[in-house]
Amino acid sequence: MAALEGGVAACAVVSGTAAVSMTLMALAGVGDNIVAVSTVHGGTYHQFKVLAPQLGIGCRFVPSNDPEDFRALIDEKTKFIFVESISNPKYTVPHFEALAEIAHTHGIPLICDNTFGCAGYFCRPIDHGVDIVLHSATKWIGGHGTTLGGVIVDGGTFDWGTHANKFPQFHRDGGQEGSGEVSL
Ligand SMILES: Cc1ncc(COP(=O)(O)O)c(C=O)c1O
Repeated sequence: MAALEGGVAACAVVSGTAAVSMTLMALAGVGDNIVAVSTVHGGTYHQFKVLAPQLGIGCRFVPSNDPEDFRALIDEKTKFIFVESISNPKYTVPHFEALAEIAHTHGIPLICDNTFGCAGYFCRPIDHGVDIVLHSATKWIGGHGTTLGGVIVDGGTFDWGTHANKFPQFHRDGGQEGSGEVSL
């Protein structure tokens, strides 16, 4: 999958839903927020709208495809922009390059669910500036709809080192600025 998508590594997970939730939990924490297009798959919408707030993560939905509307919702607690290459079910296509520029200007990755891009056959978002690609392998990758699966592909393009303050979880020294403390 990493080769098909032009990434450097891929992680197989149990479903597309798991690919979304693992990515969300890996990158965001209490007090953070994400900015996502509102036309995402219903299960993803539910995760962002209902489950993310239960983890203390806010989701700001963008009801348009205008990159400037994404830019307007980003603040210093935003951890990523999330889009779908060909959205399910509206088939909208994002302006990858413009969104990548906006995300990178704010020191955050651009994430794309490329399930409808068919394993890179129709679309390879990493070629257009996306940093992390997700898939529901339950669909075309599995091919038969009989087996659940998901994939997370890292494009190797986002510089986590430069942005250690925003993503301290990826650094042995914990960065300098927490992603949010969780009391147990
Ligand atoms: C674009 C997209 N992402 C994620 C999912 C969720 O994937 P899964 O059913 O493998 O959990 C789906 C399922 O329809 C989907 O269409």
